[in-house]
Amino acid sequence: MPDVPSESAPPPRTVITFGTFDVFHVGHLRVIERAAALGARLVVGVSADALNLRKKGREPVFSQSERLEIVAALKAVHEVFVEESLELKRDYITQFAADVLVMGDDWAGRFDEFQDICEVVYLPRTPAISTTALIEKISGG
Ligand code: CTP
Repeated sequence: MPDVPSESAPPPRTVITFGTFDVFHVGHLRVIERAAALGARLVVGVSADALNLRKKGREPVFSQSERLEIVAALKAVHEVFVEESLELKRDYITQFAADVLVMGDDWAGRFDEFQDICEVVYLPRTPAISTTALIEKISGG
């Protein structure tokens, strides 16, 4: 008897998402779990320390190797890599043969240019939590 996929099985698609994932919080977990539910394999690009410094003007609290280690340990994540540059998204999508690009809706519309090579999905952010707010809260006592 050939294997018949059950109705609840996710489509055999590769999903890719990107982020800093510094001071890992529940908003990060939720976007990763919801991205994973869109396919069979989730690949996560964790942004390089140097990229963060350029983009956000500060070093992440946790180093890229620590952030990679945390994200790679999640059940929903199959593969991680270091995102060296924002300009390389198209290359990463191709390299990992991603069928779906997932980003938080703080980026809504910004990655529509990749719709020629994959589906682009923007997921709503978890309200009221961010790395920046956490850092401010902790450092403010
Ligand atoms: N994210 C989310 N909900 C939040 C915070 C982040 O869904 N409350 C998502 C982002 O949309 C992105 C991913 O998590 O897809 C990684 O976001 P990142 O920029 O690393 O986290 P932030 O908490 O937004 O960090 P910062 O405050 O430094 O911008």
